[in-house]
Amino acid sequence: MAPPTPISAISPLLLLFFTSWASAYTNHTVGGPSGWFFNSTTKSPSADFTKWASAQSSFNLGDYLIFNTNSNQSVIQTYNATTYKLCNADDDASNGDIFIYDNSTANGSLTFAVPLTKEGPNYFFDDGVECEKGMAFQISVKHGKGLPPNLNQPPPPAYVESPPPLDPPPYLVPDSQDASPAGNGVGGANMGLVVFGLVLVSRLMV
Ligand SMILES: *[C@@H]1O[C@H](CO)[C@@H](O)[C@H](O)[C@H]1NC(C)=O
Ligand SMILES: *[C@@H]1O[C@H](CO)[C@@H](O)[C@H](O)[C@H]1NC(C)=O
Ligand SMILES: *[C@@H]1O[C@H](CO)[C@@H](O)[C@H](O)[C@H]1NC(C)=O
Ligand SMILES: *[C@@H]1O[C@H](CO)[C@@H](O)[C@H](O)[C@H]1NC(C)=O
Ligand SMILES: *[C@@H]1O[C@H](CO)[C@@H](O)[C@H](O)[C@H]1NC(C)=O
Ligand SMILES: *[C@@H]1O[C@H](CO)[C@@H](O)[C@H](O)[C@H]1NC(C)=O
Repeated sequence: MAPPTPISAISPLLLLFFTSWASAYTNHTVGGPSGWFFNSTTKSPSADFTKWASAQSSFNLGDYLIFNTNSNQSVIQTYNATTYKLCNADDDASNGDIFIYDNSTANGSLTFAVPLTKEGPNYFFDDGVECEKGMAFQISVKHGKGLPPNLNQPPPPAYVESPPPLDPPPYLVPDSQDASPAGNGVGGANMGLVVFGLVLVSRLMV
């Protein structure tokens, strides 16, 4: 029996790594096969969305909610519990915490993919009577693996260091007269500044 080659010894680990990486984010199809619909005759939603939400094991940052629906329906997402309880998407007081997914000009079936980008309570509903009749649910989004780069906020602008002074500032000269332990400590810190300054200057000169 030949001993396992390093490659075959490593590949189960690689497989495990890629499996956990690939399953880091989940797409949740809202309502399952019933989708996100409303029967305007019976005035009833196509599913019990609260029940559906509580049956999901977890919702994490970077997951998507997939709403399979049609042009008669919209999806309103908010982080504001008051907006949710009022079923009110026209609420200017909600501080911009409302996102509307809607396409009334589409013909036929529609899919809205809503990324989960904020931890904590997230609320979803359809406008008007649909919401009042139960076309609404809330979830709690956990951190999970955090946001993937494509959903992350743009990074803040790069930190620009101010140019170092051309002349060595006077505080870099150690005070030999005052050789107390505290003075030595300050001298050590000053030597560190000198070295740092020299490194900066030499890098600027390259
Ligand atoms: C989840 O949905 C998003 C948005 O539609 C899509 O880009 C992504 O490929 C989907 N991921 C999976 C695993 O289906
Ligand atoms: C709405 O419900 C009624 C009664 O159950 C049913 O006959 C009708 O087909 C439903 N409409 C839609 C669009 O599903
Ligand atoms: C939520 O919306 C209500 C109005 O519906 C508003 O008064 C409140 O300030 C909002 N809360 C936050 C945290 O924005
Ligand atoms: C709405 O749907 C129509 C028809 O499918 C499509 O051409 C249009 O780009 C959609 N609008 C938006 C904002 O997605
Ligand atoms: C919508 O689609 C149906 C069949 O797909 C077509 O017969 C109808 O003309 C379309 N209506 C519009 C307004 O595009
Ligand atoms: C939207 O609702 C109207 C009235 O209930 C219905 O006639 C129409 O077929 C629906 N549109 C779609 C795309 O299902």
